[in-house]
Amino acid sequence: MGMPTVYTTAHVLSSVISTAKKKGTVGFVPTMGALHEGHLSLVERALEENFLVVVSIFVNPTQFNNASDLSNYPRTLDSDLELLSIFDRVIVYAPTVEDIYPKHDFFEPIDLGALDTRLEGAFRPGHFQGVVHVVRNLFHIVQPHSAYFGEKDFQQLAVIRRMVKLLNFSIEIISCPTYRSANGLALSSRNMRLTDQGKSEALIISETLNYMKNLGHDDTPSKLMEQGVAHFSKGKLTLEYLEIVDAESLTKLTDVWSDHAVCCIAAYCEDVRLIDNLAM
Ligand code: PAJ
Repeated sequence: MGMPTVYTTAHVLSSVISTAKKKGTVGFVPTMGALHEGHLSLVERALEENFLVVVSIFVNPTQFNNASDLSNYPRTLDSDLELLSIFDRVIVYAPTVEDIYPKHDFFEPIDLGALDTRLEGAFRPGHFQGVVHVVRNLFHIVQPHSAYFGEKDFQQLAVIRRMVKLLNFSIEIISCPTYRSANGLALSSRNMRLTDQGKSEALIISETLNYMKNLGHDDTPSKLMEQGVAHFSKGKLTLEYLEIVDAESLTKLTDVWSDHAVCCIAAYCEDVRLIDNLAM
């Protein structure tokens, strides 16, 4: 235990990882910091399954399509390290922009198909290519056996799986359930920017998802979405989208249910953009 060792350059990190690989597997948890219990649940899972866990902390500029969102993103390295100090066998990679994006870094956007244009993709142009770019570079540096991602960012998980396939990474992608506070709010680094009142108003998000789930599949997905929107509008948040989609293809379900349906939602609370999702 004690503060985790922090590496800021890829070449030093790589040599530590190569040594560790002689003893066991390496798990990787990429993050943008401002760590909370949700991130820690990924680290715990990775520790159960690996000898060493690398946590990266890097606020990636290429995935922000909005300059003020980037500048407002919380940066709390000291308390992040404090939170990680409860763990053994965790090291931190907190690189500079130049380390992750060296001068001759070449990136060709990959074909994300509908993943890039639907849901988050529709409202955050370029976002997922930015995620792919940074995670690709991180995967090349860390070269883990497995990498852990939260279902909270449902579409991101699908994007990462597609990238791993297209770019032939032999890294196992492990999805971890969304960690929620006792009242249902999905933990997010962005919640730090909410007032107490905002935090309680934001509960309408998970309440709506649970309300819809409880209504079940008696009606069509379209009808259920209507009921969901009506329920949501009893709260104070501004809805960006609420859609029931097929969990694999992310295509919108309207008349017929598919085997795995998930409702995805994005909304603004006090100018903070929040997302959540729940299997229906
Ligand atoms: P960030 O938002 O910091 O999230 C890092 C990881 O933690 C992601 O896999 C995310 O899905 C997961 N996570 C966040 N909140 C969670 C919660 N409440 N329950 C479970 N998991 C949760 O996602 C990113 O960073 C970035 O896009 C990144 C992948 C690091 C690339 O820059």
